[in-house]
Amino acid sequence: MVNVHIDPSFDDEERRRRLFAGDVIVYTHVPEIAAFAEFTRGLITEVFAPDEPTAVHTRRSKDELADLLIDFKPKFIHHPESIAHVRKVVSALGVGAEQIHADVPKLRTAFPAGGLNTGIAYAFQAHRDTWYAAPKAQINWWLPVFPVEPNNIMEFYPRWFGREIPNNSGDYNYYVANAWRGHIKDFSGAKDTRVHPAPLEPLGEGEPRLTLVPPVGGVMLFSGDQLHASIPNTSAATRYSIDFRTVHVDDVHSGNGAPVADVRCVGTALRDFRRLSDLADFTEEEVAPYDSADAADGPKVYVPS
Ligand SMILES: [Fe+2]
Repeated sequence: MVNVHIDPSFDDEERRRRLFAGDVIVYTHVPEIAAFAEFTRGLITEVFAPDEPTAVHTRRSKDELADLLIDFKPKFIHHPESIAHVRKVVSALGVGAEQIHADVPKLRTAFPAGGLNTGIAYAFQAHRDTWYAAPKAQINWWLPVFPVEPNNIMEFYPRWFGREIPNNSGDYNYYVANAWRGHIKDFSGAKDTRVHPAPLEPLGEGEPRLTLVPPVGGVMLFSGDQLHASIPNTSAATRYSIDFRTVHVDDVHSGNGAPVADVRCVGTALRDFRRLSDLADFTEEEVAPYDSADAADGPKVYVPS
């Protein structure tokens, strides 16, 4: 059973306990989230000017959009203000920046059906982030940049939290995937040949689904071990959202986290998480319990060229 908490008053420890048990938490109005969304809207509006960002798919070709996003997304990710916003958001929700490590925030775009949906705008099928080498203590933060609708957002499959589903995560090696990240353009055309961990059997029509629609200025928190997917965008508008991931240093040290019942991938993304107070990395001693003895074949951390 998955509980959804709206604007709860519990503290971070209780919040993490509930997230690792499969609950989802929504905060509807956080000024620091609204400020992050506003900052991002400004950057997007500038990139696509004079076109309206949510209608840009009607004005530009898929190739043009891929080129623009390949240039723009890293600028957003590595903008010094982006991580500063993450720090402010996390502090606003009651956690000290010395105890939290975060990866860089990602901007996601979902174009209406028929639009660019590979490579730089990959539409994620049902997956757990933990199949992609996310640490079990990972918490995902997801926030809309422009207003979103139930038909252009994401959904959860709550029946599978903590429950094994046959999947191909064993084919995924995080360090091999890091090598692909430098060649994103190659995967943004007709064929996206990267390994994307997924259930071996597609989920059925009758699969129970949970879709939450936070307002701009709101955020959804969930465990990286939740089975979830981007919904094919059947609205008329391009969807823009930000997500970032955090881990609490106590959880990394204690081994606390989600069940990871069916995770078989190789490697760990833990080296991507930096302490919010000073951007320090985890040490190799801290990472070691999460790494796989057989991990090799690629960079442990992706460094953009
Ligand atoms: Fe995900």
